[in-house]
Amino acid sequence: MARRETPSVETNDAPHVPVLLAEVLEGLAIAPGEVHVDATFGAGGYSRAMLAAGATVLGLDRDPDAVPAGEALIAESDGKFAFHAARFSQLAQVLRAAGVTQVDGIVFDIGVSSMQLDQAGRGFSFQSDGPLDMRMGQDGLSAADFVNTADEADIADILYLYGEERQSRRIARAIVAARPLERTLELAAVVRKALGYRPGAPKDPATRTFQAIRIHVNGELDELREGLVAAEAMLAPGGRLAVVSFHSLEDRIVKRFLKLRSGSEGAGSRHLPDLSGQRRAPSFEKPARPTRAGEAECARNPRARSATLRVAVRSEAPAWGAHDDAERRAA
Ligand SMILES: C[S@@+](CC[C@H](N)C(=O)[O-])C[C@H]1O[C@@H](n2cnc3c(N)ncnc32)[C@H](O)[C@@H]1O
Repeated sequence: MARRETPSVETNDAPHVPVLLAEVLEGLAIAPGEVHVDATFGAGGYSRAMLAAGATVLGLDRDPDAVPAGEALIAESDGKFAFHAARFSQLAQVLRAAGVTQVDGIVFDIGVSSMQLDQAGRGFSFQSDGPLDMRMGQDGLSAADFVNTADEADIADILYLYGEERQSRRIARAIVAARPLERTLELAAVVRKALGYRPGAPKDPATRTFQAIRIHVNGELDELREGLVAAEAMLAPGGRLAVVSFHSLEDRIVKRFLKLRSGSEGAGSRHLPDLSGQRRAPSFEKPARPTRAGEAECARNPRARSATLRVAVRSEAPAWGAHDDAERRAA
């Protein structure tokens, strides 16, 4: 996988420093007048750069806290920017309701923003004490609801699947024994005690548990699968998809989606749907190799260390549509 060292176009006084911004812009290859979607607006770092490159931009974010930054950018953008407080799984419906039937590029910058992580009251981080919340959209099941009501076996499954936590059963047992849990630091202490963690050890085991619960309460992997399918439906032939992901569970979904839909999966693969000998025409061209941030960007912005960018170009073929069972299993 290539590590890149392109000139930085980010600003360090932004509340969230955009990752791989120059590479994302290069991937989107914006021509003036094109219409592009920023599916994860956050603090608007990508949207601003896309506007500066000459695009008309539609921004989406599921977090109501992103609305003021979206409104501020609308006010500055002379009709070239629109914002929708929505989940990107709803991308196709949102665009069609806005009268947009096709777009030239779509970018996803998956995961949480620095604003979400840094606000103790959102409950995403165990670096400071806050309510066990973790809901990006500020609605639905909270982390506290989950840890205080789920069966021990279900908690163990979530920690194993979404945190890749090998000691999931031991942690789930400790969580159930310590209920009710209401604060981030309480949960972190339960996990550390269950695993015999000593302060100063290289990786805090609470990291995996927090990641798993966050992915679960926000339905993040299903959002990603459905967002990719929506992007496939809305991209014009030649339109460009750019996805930045931050851990292997997300990247695997993006990689497999593009591999299958670009026809790069070898014949006879167990991952391919059985189409009785008929192969569907690839809806994407074969994607370029993924890109990682260079050392200079990682030094400036430690979040960039785990980022992977995948870019692919939409073909002329019809969209494949929703994942079938075989594809879902593969992803
Ligand atoms: C890493 S930040 C994006 C930062 C942005 N690129 C910037 O430059 O400021 C991810 C954002 O995506 C939003 N998000 C995550 N999942 C989402 C989803 N399924 N639908 C819409 N927004 C989502 C989060 O609320 C968060 O604001």
